[in-house]
Amino acid sequence: MTERHTGRTGLRSQTVGSLRKDDVGEVLELTGWVHRRRDLGGLYFVDLRDRSGLLQLSFGPDFTDEGSLEVVRKLGAEDVIAVHGEVVARPDPNPEMPTGEVEVRGRAVRLLSKARTPEIPVYRGPEDELPGEELRLRHRVLDLRRPELQTNLALRHRLVLAVRNTLDRLGFLEIETPILTKPTPEGARDFLVPSRSHPGEFFALPQSPQIYKQVLMISGFDRYFQIARCFRDEALRADRQLEFTQIDVEASFVEVEDILGWMEGLMVDLAEVGGREAPSPFPRMTWDEAMERYGSDSPDLRWSLEIEQWSEALAGTEFKVLNAALARGDRLRGFRLDGGARLSRKQIEGIEEVAKGAGAPGLMWAKITADGASGPLGRFLTPSHIEAVGGTEGDLILVAAGPDRMTHPVLDAVRGAVIGALELPREREDAWLWITDFPVFEEDDEGGLGPNHHPFVMPHPEFVETLESDPLAARGMAYDLVYNGSELGSGSIRIHIPELQRRIFRILGMDDATIDHKFGFLLDALGAGAPPHGGVAFGMDRIVQRFADAASLRDVIAFPKTTAARAIFEGAPTRVADEELQDLHIRIQGTTEDRPN
Ligand code: AMO
Repeated sequence: MTERHTGRTGLRSQTVGSLRKDDVGEVLELTGWVHRRRDLGGLYFVDLRDRSGLLQLSFGPDFTDEGSLEVVRKLGAEDVIAVHGEVVARPDPNPEMPTGEVEVRGRAVRLLSKARTPEIPVYRGPEDELPGEELRLRHRVLDLRRPELQTNLALRHRLVLAVRNTLDRLGFLEIETPILTKPTPEGARDFLVPSRSHPGEFFALPQSPQIYKQVLMISGFDRYFQIARCFRDEALRADRQLEFTQIDVEASFVEVEDILGWMEGLMVDLAEVGGREAPSPFPRMTWDEAMERYGSDSPDLRWSLEIEQWSEALAGTEFKVLNAALARGDRLRGFRLDGGARLSRKQIEGIEEVAKGAGAPGLMWAKITADGASGPLGRFLTPSHIEAVGGTEGDLILVAAGPDRMTHPVLDAVRGAVIGALELPREREDAWLWITDFPVFEEDDEGGLGPNHHPFVMPHPEFVETLESDPLAARGMAYDLVYNGSELGSGSIRIHIPELQRRIFRILGMDDATIDHKFGFLLDALGAGAPPHGGVAFGMDRIVQRFADAASLRDVIAFPKTTAARAIFEGAPTRVADEELQDLHIRIQGTTEDRPN
């Protein structure tokens, strides 16, 4: 097909957004929505909108037939019309509009569809605020007409297309995997679907295609990808949805370098489509290094501010809290902030509140002055302490004491808070970062062991022998991609040896019967001759959100769920009729009145 997309159909000669001065004199058939209408003493101006943009139409007794003028007089916002008219140069060009040098003089107009008064306006003047999000989501049909959302979804389309093109070029095959499946362990709750044919049994919606893509590797499809829908019943935040889309990738006979190399290339291609900078090679950091320097496995490197380690520098003060922490074997870490002494006590206390919110008992601070230091910690600092922390006049010193498990998240939160309080300027607009060598296990809230990512991550060989005796020391061949402080993707080299996979499940506290029930099909497949393999998955929604500078994932998904886990436009979830429940062999506890709506 060589036809260029002009928008020509049976009802229109083209879309409105591309009209320019060169088109003056053309007689056209246009269609679209009435964005707004203005009356100027017998002359009428209508901004006509379609997906391609906006165009000014004019109507008047000198060039519009009387019947059409009657139609124009009654036009309301969001009515759908067809116009026959001529392109003329605008006497008063509007530089704000791409079509602003021209207008179309309407000779005739037809009303194709009358719209009721819109519940939320699509037209927004420069001073008008967006209606509240709940209202917008309820009236999504109108909200989606907003040029911002149209642009976001068009960007999303172009990015998905670029993913397919790049991965196709690299020899990856797109293969679909089931939606009705078995639980996949990605750390969230499953959405369950009752089986009508098998009373008491349930399918789970996939949290990711993880196990299937590994099975595809064992079946010999040595480069797979999928634009895959995933489902996780987890608490929603601005960067999380119940259903979302991954760019899911897996390849065989690979090492970490292969995956990182290809995926970095993919990100460079996507950044180009999204108008972002992605200077390759991206910096890399091990997980241990990231936690030490930033307290986070997804640090925002648009700012270079780093944590300092001061256990030695601050030894020997008269400050009891510090000495008690050191005696317990805790470390003293914190930030030295150039010029931070300009923050008021109230601002510093605000930062301390952030630290407490992240789990710290408190945050110690000192302002470095011309003749020493002030503040709760400052009073205890001698000149040699000040020198040891590199303090100079005007600095603010913030110190957290405690075990790393506690101070990592505290200092991460404090870092964000001081960047905000001091209004530190960004040092770059696009900060990409690979984090590598994640721990294989982490302690869960009950003191047991959970996988740091999922249970399929290949440990580095030097930790294999001591997995049982020292699980928390084990580091795996796992990596994340971080962009401007947001985790865009995550992956690893996988375990391809069934015995090792079974050991990991056992360390995670599963007995053999559970392992066989949950993962027997994977272990069987691994026994069928599994190639070494690995892969990654990126959050498609997050990539689009970041590239579009959208405040929430909801702005890059056509029909998103609210933070209350509802689809309020279509109205889901809903109750179902008792007969349907009976068919599914399900009885809801409590009376109808007790049931949540
Ligand atoms: P993970 O669970 O880290 O890895 O998910 C990969 C990426 O998916 C995105 N993501 C989400 N986006 C929106 N809403 C959510 N609720 C949500 N959860 C995750 C994130 C994340 O980085 N199977 C593994 C990947 C692998 O090992 O290959 C997996 O799913 O951007």
